[in-house]
Amino acid sequence: MSGLFERLRHELKEMQERGVYKQLIHLDSPQDAVVKIDETGAEVVNLCSNNYLGLCNTPEVVAAGRDAYEEFGAGTSSVRFICGTFTLHKKLEQKIASFLGLESALTYVSCWNANTGLTPTFLEDEDALISDELNHASIIDGVRMTKANRKIYKHSDMGELEQALKDTQSARHRFIITDGIFSMEGDICRLPDILELAEKYDAVVAVDDSHATGVLGETGRGTPEHYGLHGKVPVITSTLGKALGGAAGGFTAGPEELTDYLTQRSRPMLFSNALPPATTAHSLAAIEYLERHPERVQKLRDNTAYFREELLEAGFKPVEGDTPIVPIIIGETAEAIRMSRMLLDEGVFVIGFGYPVVPHGTARIRCQISAAHETEHLDAVLDAMKKVGDKLGIV
Ligand SMILES: Cc1ncc(COP(=O)(O)O)c(C=O)c1O
Repeated sequence: MSGLFERLRHELKEMQERGVYKQLIHLDSPQDAVVKIDETGAEVVNLCSNNYLGLCNTPEVVAAGRDAYEEFGAGTSSVRFICGTFTLHKKLEQKIASFLGLESALTYVSCWNANTGLTPTFLEDEDALISDELNHASIIDGVRMTKANRKIYKHSDMGELEQALKDTQSARHRFIITDGIFSMEGDICRLPDILELAEKYDAVVAVDDSHATGVLGETGRGTPEHYGLHGKVPVITSTLGKALGGAAGGFTAGPEELTDYLTQRSRPMLFSNALPPATTAHSLAAIEYLERHPERVQKLRDNTAYFREELLEAGFKPVEGDTPIVPIIIGETAEAIRMSRMLLDEGVFVIGFGYPVVPHGTARIRCQISAAHETEHLDAVLDAMKKVGDKLGIV
């Protein structure tokens, strides 16, 4: 057998021995506040889904997907520009644009594709691309693929961002890209400062709002709404795979000339199929549901505040913030994975994240709160966390 596969087997064994091997856990129920674990049959409180608004399993949302199967069949069987664009895609894209207060939107099968299909498409050698060091992996890959002068600034360090802008004044275009909510820390980007610097140094800003869409702002319109800047960020990318139904899909929203250009040239757009009809329809239904039910966003905020307060009360030290991403730093990857296994035994499903998802020595348990949780779910989680935290000497 090829030495390649032998090497892979050896490395996998090593991961298992070091306790850093990621064991996939199979769910035998829909995403919700409580899920059923296939391996054990246990029903456990789900604390690691991006189902922030609980829409994955909301009947109106699911029904819209089912209706689309009936009307449009299983799939597009083509990329968008050949014959893979349905009326449903147009409706969803118009809805996304109006929801975000932007001119237009273009959907992809994932936000991964939206991000990797963004800057490589229109930035060239004479341009500059400036990115926060803690941006999501899909942005990082997009940056790697972009032929421009690339600058990475220290996380949310506005001094370094300004320096990067000064250093690139001779570039044809300067483009800044940042997460809205940073996925591993749960903190929010310093959007007002970023926009001010962009204005001063003539740069375009793009925000990946994957963890903030449906989450931040009074009505869930994301990081711009949170800061009173709704419609003021030129380019937004985001996912449909978290708060907005949670299946899959992503988009880039912004000026018409941007989305039109991406339609002409963006490689994931040109060479990969469109969103399936059911996913397109239920994503549209999810946004419409959110527009009718802004109280879901309030419930998410209330749950988050309750959980964070109680966690502090119990002696844990979560990374500070007020978003539903609540990380507790443990240190070593094997320890974080061990803690998550112990919590699973206590009826709480929460994942331990370690290297290479986060830097060495900063492995963590990342709790994620949802509007689907009731206080009793959060209380059960807190009890289990106290018990396991005690055993591990964390609290
Ligand atoms: C900030 C951010 N951007 C992009 C993505 C990718 O989204 P998708 O699952 O739609 O590819 C994620 C998913 O984890 C994310 O957290």
